[in-house]
Amino acid sequence: MDRVLGLVGSSCGGLDTRFRTELAEPAAARGWRLAITLTPTASRWLDSAGELERLRELTDLPVRSVSRLPGEPRPHPDPAYFLFAPASANSVAKLALGLADNQALTVLGDALGEPGVTIAVGYQVRDARFAHPAWQGHLAALGGAGVRLNRLDHGGPWTGVLDELDA
Ligand SMILES: Cc1cc2nc3c(=O)[nH]c(=O)nc-3n(C[C@H](O)[C@H](O)[C@H](O)COP(=O)(O)O)c2cc1C
Repeated sequence: MDRVLGLVGSSCGGLDTRFRTELAEPAAARGWRLAITLTPTASRWLDSAGELERLRELTDLPVRSVSRLPGEPRPHPDPAYFLFAPASANSVAKLALGLADNQALTVLGDALGEPGVTIAVGYQVRDARFAHPAWQGHLAALGGAGVRLNRLDHGGPWTGVLDELDA
């Protein structure tokens, strides 16, 4: 069976070293066909670190960060599973509000609430984010839509969040 995973990354600390080794490679090793989409900042960071080429070697699908042109075919199939990790405070807030001002938030926003689609979010934020007046509301909105939410461990490996896709 073709198990496509929409793997979406945003610009959190550690992305340049851990996105491939702790998320993309372990997911590929578990049999997922990766449809990777990055926020513009995440793409810039990974490009600067020489990681985009390495990510491309893990999947037959293009690694995306920009929208297609009208008339171009859609480069990714529609995955039934998404993992958004690492998810920044910025992108979590935008997803909760339905903002889709980049390709990463467009694919997630289109999938959110679709019947049969599983979305796991591993967010990495400072403790202070929990004092922001809108933050708990954003988590509640996403959780209420069935999104599986986990806070990533700043120190420990991110790989455990992949287990959310099996639950
Ligand atoms: C080195 C560095 C590390 C960062 N780490 C985080 C982080 O772990 N979590 C977070 O929410 N924002 C972090 N930020 C801030 C985000 O990169 C910033 O809010 C950005 O606008 C998010 O854009 P994006 O969600 O479109 O990727 C970091 C910024 C820098 C420069």
